[in-house]
Parts: sequence; structure tokens; C-alpha cells
Amino acid sequence: MRLPTLAPTLAKILLAATLVALGAHNASVQAADAPVKIQALRGGTPLTQDNPPQGGHQERDRAPMDRDFVQQPPLIPHAIHGYQITKNFNKCMDCHAWQKTKNTGATKVSVTHFKSREGTELDNISPRRYFCTQCHVPQTDAKPLVENSFQRARGLQ
Ligand code: HEC
Ligand code: HEC
Repeated sequence: MRLPTLAPTLAKILLAATLVALGAHNASVQAADAPVKIQALRGGTPLTQDNPPQGGHQERDRAPMDRDFVQQPPLIPHAIHGYQITKNFNKCMDCHAWQKTKNTGATKVSVTHFKSREGTELDNISPRRYFCTQCHVPQTDAKPLVENSFQRARGLQ
């Protein structure tokens, strides 16, 4: 007896639930399709223009900081203002090349830096290790921007 009255109500509930589910699905599809806004360091400056230089903080020279894991590119313990790395000249190699280190007291570039992409051992810095600041950055004792639980590798503690 109650079935005929219940059926339309059930149908309504089911319809409503389906509509809500469809709506939610649409919304998530829209969110995924929405263009991602990336805030680049250059801001909105077009590539053909330069940003005015910012007053960057440069640490003074001091003893190299300990590494956090053995494969870490060591941090640069000295200022690198004005050290150019161009197609024809690499200021870093002026001191860090093997034949220069005797006079400069700089650490020799790692032997791993002489291996080409194909694994061939070269007699000079490999193109894939040429742009030093791609991996090596000046050290700083700035506090972490985001709190985190990172810990030095156990083998180096
Ligand atoms: C005028 C010489 C000179 C130039 C140019 C120079 N360095 Fe150095 N660098 C040194 C010296 C000397 C040390 C050793 C400092 C020490 O051990 O206290 C050093 C140390 C380092 C270290 C630390 C190595 C370690 O064992 O922890 C890195 C990394 C480094 N330099 C990278 C660079 C990069 C990258 C450039 C170019 C942007 C560069 N250096 C340019 C002289 C130089
Ligand atoms: C693609 C990343 C990368 C680039 C580019 C790179 N390095 Fe390194 N560098 C490393 C890593 C990783 C290490 C530590 C592990 C190792 O020795 O390979 C290192 C180690 C070093 C060391 C320490 C060597 C030692 O015996 O402790 C020096 C000095 C150094 N690099 C200088 C340079 C210089 C100068 C350049 C540019 C000519 C350069 N690196 C380019 C990643 C890089």
C-alpha cells in the first residue's frame, strides 16, 4: 500500500542525488581545466626586457658548510657577484680547473664533472656540468621559509 507513495519520493531523491553528483563532477572538471597561474621570479616582464636588479643578499666568504647528503652539490662558500659563465668564458674554472687549483687554493672540480652524457670520460669539463650555478648556489644561514622535518642523511650525521 505504501509503495506507490514511496516510489515517486524515492525517484525524486535519486534524481536529486544524481544531479548533485553530476554538478560536482562538472565543477571538478572545470577546476582541472582552469589555467594554472604561475608566479615566475621575473614577474610579468617579457623576455625581451630586463627587470631592475634587486638588492640581493650575498653571504660573506666563510668555511664551507657541511653537506646534507653525499650526492649534494656543495654550496659555494664565497661571493660570486660578477662571476660570468658564458659560451666562451667560465669564471669559476679560472680557479676551480685542476691546473689552476694549486695557485688558487680552490677545490678541484669533481671528477664526475668530466663525464659526458654518454658516459665518455673527457679531458675537460663536460658540457652538462658547464653551467655551475645550475647546481651550485652560494651558502646562506637563512632560516627555512617553510617549517620542515628534513634531516641530514644518517651517514653524515
Ligand atoms: C677567485 C677564485 C675563485 C673563483 C672565481 C670561484 N671560486 Fe669557488 N672556491 C674558491 C676557493 C679558494 C674555494 C675554497 C674555499 C674554502 O675551502 O674555504 C672555493 C670553494 C668552492 C666550493 C666549495 C667546494 C667544497 O668542497 O665544499 C664550490 C662549490 C665553489 N667554490 C663553486 C664555485 C662556483 C660555482 C664558481 C663560479 C660561479 C666559483 N666557485 C668561482 C675560489 C674561487
Ligand atoms: C648538474 C649539476 C652540477 C653542475 C652543472 C656542476 N656541478 Fe659541481 N658538483 C655537483 C655535485 C652533485 C657534486 C657532488 C658529487 C660529485 O662530486 O659529483 C659536485 C661537486 C663539486 C665540487 C666538490 C668536489 C670535491 O672534491 O668535493 C666542486 C669544487 C664543484 N662541484 C665545482 C663545480 C664547478 C666549478 C662547476 C662548473 C664548471 C660545477 N661544479 C658544475 C653538481 C654539479
